[in-house]
Amino acid sequence: MLFDLAPKERLKDLFDRKEEYGELSRLVRSGRWVAVLGKRMTGKTSLVKTFAHENNGIYVNLLGADRIEEFARRLAAAGGLSLKEMILDLRIVRVKWIRLAEEIFGRFRKRIIVLDEVQDIASPRFLKLLKYIWDTYSGIKIVFSGSYVGVMKRLLNPKSASPLYGREPVKLVLKPFPADVSRQFLLEGFKQYRRRVRVNEVEEVVQKLNGYVGWLTLYGNLRCVERLDHENALKKTVQRGSAIIRDELENFLRNRRRDLYLSVLRMTIYGARWSELKNRLNVNSKVLRDVLQTLKDVMILDEDHGYYRISDPIVGEAVKRLRRRAS
Ligand SMILES: Nc1ncnc2c1ncn2[C@@H]1O[C@H](COP(=O)(O)OP(=O)(O)O)[C@@H](O)[C@H]1O
Ligand SMILES: [Mg+2]
Repeated sequence: MLFDLAPKERLKDLFDRKEEYGELSRLVRSGRWVAVLGKRMTGKTSLVKTFAHENNGIYVNLLGADRIEEFARRLAAAGGLSLKEMILDLRIVRVKWIRLAEEIFGRFRKRIIVLDEVQDIASPRFLKLLKYIWDTYSGIKIVFSGSYVGVMKRLLNPKSASPLYGREPVKLVLKPFPADVSRQFLLEGFKQYRRRVRVNEVEEVVQKLNGYVGWLTLYGNLRCVERLDHENALKKTVQRGSAIIRDELENFLRNRRRDLYLSVLRMTIYGARWSELKNRLNVNSKVLRDVLQTLKDVMILDEDHGYYRISDPIVGEAVKRLRRRAS
């Protein structure tokens, strides 16, 4: 069902994304590693999870897996491998996690491996591990997904001294749905529940939620499963969505120049030019450039020729709810 809140796992439940799915298949088969990127709620997890499941691959969620040890555990578990047995098999006395991770990859070398939320891995040895895998198990197929920060950014822009220089994955970026696809998505979802929906309601949702399939799904779920009326469902979508994003933003702002970031975020809710930002905020160009770049990297902000804007309306709502001091 389209309005199920869990990430989709099967092609029959995945709406649209045919082109992206085809491109992903083609790239993986050609032997390239691929990184699926995009803003939150554009359906990255659904795409890569479906791809894994439809191809007898292994899907690993790395949320919160900062150390190699945790990485190895999750990878083994996702592929149905018992670490205990493996450690016995290999007669390992003192576990070296990086060696073990190499071994686990080796056991899965014939299957497509999908690593989601890769940015959470903080271990500096992760890139070396990938180089080893690449060199040792030729043709091993890996798909990465998550946000464009931390290890993901280093993976995609290796410096010449990096172990992965010249082997970086191809980027596949998911965009929000265009309006007509959002419209079809909603109509199809309502049809699955045999519920009627008015044209003007659909139009308002399409206009307010701006093609983010995750928010459309939440709205549909509130209508068809929780049985709310249009107005309340839309209100609640914005509330719940912005609460989630607000927590994420709070996390992001920790250890950063909160006041400066907040001013930039507030100014870009409805869009602002570089010159306006520069004039209004009392900072030098380099600092402002860094702030804008960081916000673009974490995909909060979009840039179009020096014009900066938060394109997800729910992120805009969340920004309005942020206070000067952390709550
Ligand atoms: N192509 C799709 N068809 C139907 N539902 C989708 C699709 N993509 C995402 N969803 C739904 O949207 C929500 C967010 O999707 P998810 O894949 O977790 O996005 P992301 O990983 O980009 O944040 C989930 O409820 C999921 O079921
Ligand atoms: Mg995801």
